[in-house]
Amino acid sequence: MLLAAAALFCSAAFAQPQLRPDNIEEVIKAMTLQEKVTLLVGGSRAVNIDGVPTGTTDLVPGAAGVTRAVPRLGIPQTVLADGPAGLRITPVRQGDNSKTYYCTGFPVGTLLASSWDLDLVQEVTTAMGNEVLEYGVDVLLAPGVNIHRNPLCGRNFEYFSEDPVLSGNMAAAYIKGVQSNGVGTSIKHYATNNQETNRNEAESRVSKRALREIYLKNFEIAIKDADPWTVMSSYNKLNGDYTQQSEGLLTTVLRDEWGYKGIVMTDWGAKAGTVKSAKSGNDLMEPGNQTEMERLIAAAQDGSISMAEIDRNVRNMLNYIVRTPRFKGYKFSNNPDLKAHAQVARKAAGEAMVLLRNENATLPLKGNEKVALYGISSIDFVAGGTGSGNVNKAYVVNLKEGLENAGFTVDKALMDYYKATIDYNTASTALTRGSGGGFFGFGSSKQAEVAIPTTAITTEANANDLAIICIGRNAGEGADRKMMDDFELTSIERELIQNVSTAFHAQGKKVVVVLNIGGVIETNSWKYLVDAILLPWSPGQEGANAIGDVLVGKVNPSGKLPMTFPINFMDHPSSANFPYNYTRPTNMGMMGFGGNQNAQRQLQKDVDYVEYEEGIYVGYRYFTTAGVQVSYPFGFGLSYTTFSYSKPVVKATANGFEATVTVTNTGKVAGKEVVELYVSAPAGGLDKPACELKSFAKTRELRPGESQTLTMKVTNYDIASFNEATSSWEAPAGNYNVYFAASVADVRASAVYALKKAQAWKMHDTLAPTNPVNEIKVTRK
Ligand code: BGC
Repeated sequence: MLLAAAALFCSAAFAQPQLRPDNIEEVIKAMTLQEKVTLLVGGSRAVNIDGVPTGTTDLVPGAAGVTRAVPRLGIPQTVLADGPAGLRITPVRQGDNSKTYYCTGFPVGTLLASSWDLDLVQEVTTAMGNEVLEYGVDVLLAPGVNIHRNPLCGRNFEYFSEDPVLSGNMAAAYIKGVQSNGVGTSIKHYATNNQETNRNEAESRVSKRALREIYLKNFEIAIKDADPWTVMSSYNKLNGDYTQQSEGLLTTVLRDEWGYKGIVMTDWGAKAGTVKSAKSGNDLMEPGNQTEMERLIAAAQDGSISMAEIDRNVRNMLNYIVRTPRFKGYKFSNNPDLKAHAQVARKAAGEAMVLLRNENATLPLKGNEKVALYGISSIDFVAGGTGSGNVNKAYVVNLKEGLENAGFTVDKALMDYYKATIDYNTASTALTRGSGGGFFGFGSSKQAEVAIPTTAITTEANANDLAIICIGRNAGEGADRKMMDDFELTSIERELIQNVSTAFHAQGKKVVVVLNIGGVIETNSWKYLVDAILLPWSPGQEGANAIGDVLVGKVNPSGKLPMTFPINFMDHPSSANFPYNYTRPTNMGMMGFGGNQNAQRQLQKDVDYVEYEEGIYVGYRYFTTAGVQVSYPFGFGLSYTTFSYSKPVVKATANGFEATVTVTNTGKVAGKEVVELYVSAPAGGLDKPACELKSFAKTRELRPGESQTLTMKVTNYDIASFNEATSSWEAPAGNYNVYFAASVADVRASAVYALKKAQAWKMHDTLAPTNPVNEIKVTRK
């Protein structure tokens, strides 16, 4: 009998279809409900519904998650790992002394966006994607694209911009680079995850128009242009539903309107509404657990989810799995070329940095000067941020080393003092690093600045040729930044800038500030005190070498701001609805309040719900329309050379217009220029911002006197606004002013696009807020 049973089993086993790209329907037919559900719920451990192991537990140690295998049908596990500033895996493996598994720490998203250079971003992420492939990972959980709604979102450094066109195009370039390696990406966090406070529960309340034009637009651009293999829904709620349970978001808009064909996975949690998630179009629960599988089985059995819905998600999963290197049996090397990738990281960081101030051509320096280097961050240098976005890199070049590598002599006494302070802090329990602590070091994590006595500064001013002050900030997942002592300088930092400037200027010596920050800070009150300000953001493991390259003029910076630097934090209309002064109570974890806690509490403004009362007036859309002064406008950035713009031309095309402009290098050194194309809509109809970015382009490196003509294409759909009354994108007929600009406040040339006939694109009426959001009215100044 036993033999007969074995024979039967074997013949059944041989009859099983084995997954191939062309037999997905056959495989679905052969699957049991249990097997189907196994595919819809990830597992940090590779087990099936009965707890039986189905594969190696830790395919890639330190990866954030896996999808489960169904070996009977030839379905392998696949591996998902963070992102976005590089691949995040465990660098040193237990019981494996043969080698390390470090990854390259590339510049953070905000610095990549500052490049405004799609080719450069693609070059970076092509290298990044090679590490994903060669370390045996199938999907990089990146890019992060949430809009910088407010300067204090703790994860802004991972994200690109306050503008959806810049953000969406950056994301598309990022995705194309990674995916050119035959691995996947996961564009995240879809959508309106614009703060970290109570991130698991907070409800974003947003008008349909602001959603469409600001918070979904970047996803729309990237998804249509670059087809990411996966989309990650966010933790938060949007207009009533958790985003991972919002059919409007995951099916109506994402798939029906944008034509998305890949999978959607949850962000890493385990919400109660598994069934609602699956029905809404969330294919994969991550990191996944047994209970979620049981919920799906029970729902399938009692009919609350249909087999067609389960099969739809399974089909998406199988279509994803057949694309993966693991399915294809790719033999990864565990040996990517980290040396070459470090050079890519250095080049990108240098080119993308933003030169904010350069009085009397303070920069570039000669490179052989004696430098008094101030700021604890010059040693405690921030290459990335904290949380899941932090890459385990082999080393970080700090600013002291970066300057020395560039040829400078760095004042030793000062460096010894900072080093001793850091060593003391590290050894003492009063450590300021890692307020969140733990595996990730959530939230802010930074050595506090230390005061330098004025007498010492005078001595240093005598002994050195110039001063460089490094101001540092760190931030990350699980906490937002604060207005005081974070957006604002601390009193120690303020005094440092004042005292150093006074002492060095008294001797006719220059003062340069380097902003090693992950998000916007206040600059207006102190910028006039110093001669030059360089903004490298958190530039990755080679970023300090890149700062050296820029300071000595080996690289001419060509970055421009992807967001506004306001004069005051409260100038941003979103600040009225942001928890800028919030201290997390002890019963709120890093993930936010749990759902149960919510039920027992009086819901709190900006913590449990956030009214996006600024509507579409995010960032420069507000400042330019209301005529509010800023410290540095959106799109601003200096160069060591100058450029002129000429021959602006706008030519109608079949579905929009083509804009061309000629850029000439009018200065003395070679350089690249970003041209920003803003469009101002005709008056009448919906309220419109004074202008909106619709395209951009960057020149190649132009020698002095050299010119290049740039071409930018814009469609009528791109210039349309979303009319809530009709659920349509509408582009009214009329004259649209087209501006060729060096920043939103620096228009260099213009032309007119005459749209003869109004155009409209009908969408679904979905994602309405439960109660109308009381949006501010902004009148064009
Ligand atoms: C983060 C995601 C990340 C995931 C996996 C979550 O906490 O929000 O961005 O991809 O963890 O590590």
